[in-house]
Amino acid sequence: MYKLIAFDAYGTLLDVYSMGVLADELFPGQGQALCLLWRDRQIEYTRLVTMSDPGGSRNYHSFWDLTIAALRYSCKRMGLDLQPNHEQQLMGQYAKLSAFPECAAVINQIKQKGIATAVLSNGNVAMLSSALATNQLDCLLDRVISVDEVRQFKISPATYALLPAHFAVRPSETLFISSNAWDIIGAAWFGLDTYWVNRQALPFEEIGPKPTYTGRNLNDLLAVLPT
Ligand code: LAC
Repeated sequence: MYKLIAFDAYGTLLDVYSMGVLADELFPGQGQALCLLWRDRQIEYTRLVTMSDPGGSRNYHSFWDLTIAALRYSCKRMGLDLQPNHEQQLMGQYAKLSAFPECAAVINQIKQKGIATAVLSNGNVAMLSSALATNQLDCLLDRVISVDEVRQFKISPATYALLPAHFAVRPSETLFISSNAWDIIGAAWFGLDTYWVNRQALPFEEIGPKPTYTGRNLNDLLAVLPT
């Protein structure tokens, strides 16, 4: 029986699809490619700063700042003219992403089972608070934990260690949920059970432990929990 269920935020609770739609309005025909490169570069930057100083990175920047830097780089790389108003629109949408429709009901049902709920995200507190409040998810979660606390990003073990530290539960009593396969691998290497939300029917990575559970959305998660 799990005592804590912790969710990743971007792509897991918060739907980043709308970013592609807006990006395509701003840069017709290039929006999807831009968003893919942008996301890759954003995560690449988190790894750069974390690997530079695993004890609590001297080179740390907030996820918000890295997201802007990644957007600027991706536009330059693709030869897109990113005007200040484009950047404002894209980042403004990032701050207010919609949640996937099933999130609130699923979190509520988990709580009814007496299991604690949390977010553990690379996002900094301000951007997480904004997006979760936009979707009224903030009041449903017991805690929203940002990796900001340790100045390292996932998949540094110090980030997953925030969960047992905040909740006084053992890693084996925690189920971690993410749509990112690399995040699942990081959490599993740390010792958590994992649930991979594979919304896009992607193959799992070729290295690392497979997820404990896999589903197409968060509704499928309820089926693996004891009634
Ligand atoms: C997060 C990103 C990795 O919320 O999705 O941590």
